[in-house]
Amino acid sequence: MNTAIRQLHARQILDSRGTPTVEVDCILADGSLGRAAVPSGASTGSHEAVELRDNDELHFFGKGVLTAVSNVNNLIAAKIVGMDAKGQREVDSAMIALDGTSNKSRLGANAMLGVSLAVARAAAVSSGLPLFRYIGGMQALRLPVPMMNIINGGVHAGWEGSDFQEYMVVPYGARSVCQAVEWGAEIYHALKSVIKKKGYITAVGDEGGFAPQAGSNRAPLDFIMQAVREAGLEPGNDVGIAIDPASSEFFRHGRYVLRTENRELTSEEMVDYYVTLVSDYPVIVLEDGLSEDDWDGWRMLNANLGDRIELVGDDLFVTSVERIAIGIKNKAANGVLIKPNQAGTLSETVDAVKLAHKKGWGAMVSHRSGETTDSFIADLAVGLDVGHLKTGAPARGERVEKYNQLMRIEESLGKSAIFAGKEGFAIPVGF
Ligand code: PGA
Ligand code: ZN
Repeated sequence: MNTAIRQLHARQILDSRGTPTVEVDCILADGSLGRAAVPSGASTGSHEAVELRDNDELHFFGKGVLTAVSNVNNLIAAKIVGMDAKGQREVDSAMIALDGTSNKSRLGANAMLGVSLAVARAAAVSSGLPLFRYIGGMQALRLPVPMMNIINGGVHAGWEGSDFQEYMVVPYGARSVCQAVEWGAEIYHALKSVIKKKGYITAVGDEGGFAPQAGSNRAPLDFIMQAVREAGLEPGNDVGIAIDPASSEFFRHGRYVLRTENRELTSEEMVDYYVTLVSDYPVIVLEDGLSEDDWDGWRMLNANLGDRIELVGDDLFVTSVERIAIGIKNKAANGVLIKPNQAGTLSETVDAVKLAHKKGWGAMVSHRSGETTDSFIADLAVGLDVGHLKTGAPARGERVEKYNQLMRIEESLGKSAIFAGKEGFAIPVGF
């Protein structure tokens, strides 16, 4: 069998924050090589699969991943070498059984995901298919709208600017992914001048977005509106806005603590706050507006805004089929963020997307704040036809590599390429 897994080899590499992460090479009997690197979050949800760290303070302040590397090279390799790389489900199930825990704490989700993605890529190489086509087959033709995070706050910017973590521009009015990327980059550059003129520094945060120390949650929205106009584009028609407050990070003793506004809000007050934002700005997606276990708050949020915009659960759902099912039953949201390393295998990631789509929910594929130049998620977003992909600013190598990969895929599809545009969301723009 040409696609039998001949060898697995993991190593420790650095991510974009200078923190160790896992990279895996998978070599097949026919010599095909699949290589994949695993990203890492900073505003991590407490229900995510476990990212195994060495906790050896003598190396990388305890952040080494040599245990996870060794788990790949020994335990996992012993189990899956010889298996067919085209049997993704079998490979992933074998790892899940070998791990034997509910949260992947034995082998580590970082070890398991590295293997899972490397196996898929090796199988694609052996089939002679581009990765997006191996994942999605002949129907993989639709390019996602890039959700570009151009202002970073919260933990990604050392809590120096806004309480909210991410302010994204969404160029849904473009004709193609190439044009969307161009608009995003032009807005990014216009924003730099806007921020500079207001007297703030133009240093960037973890995801490549600017991190002006404006000490406000609304000021970034005003800066972005101005930048969009200065780039010659029309807010709401050409370009929308998405926000990820990552509110689990500022949820304390049952209240949302807005440090920059010097007040603490209840879930109900927080919902009112978002209703006002959505009427004042062309917001199309709101992610993690409420905290990871505030189910009642989420139900209230969805009742108020769920027919107008896409409400995406990140820390709430952690790419888990079980938690998404609870969300569906409770009408808690209408969208889910898809981060492969929260789930820990490719098969479980695909299951999460399928469940969301079956219920008419949005599924937004996402990078992590700690990234590498691996662009697997770009192919994944096309292969699974998710309509929107968030992967940081249109700047910094590890972020742009994903947007560049989308442009390569669009080019390779030629006239068959479709840009998701205003249809890319759970609630289409201007429906
Ligand atoms: P993280 O942030 O990768 O640091 O978790 C991304 C997000 O919250 O969406
Ligand atoms: Zn998030």
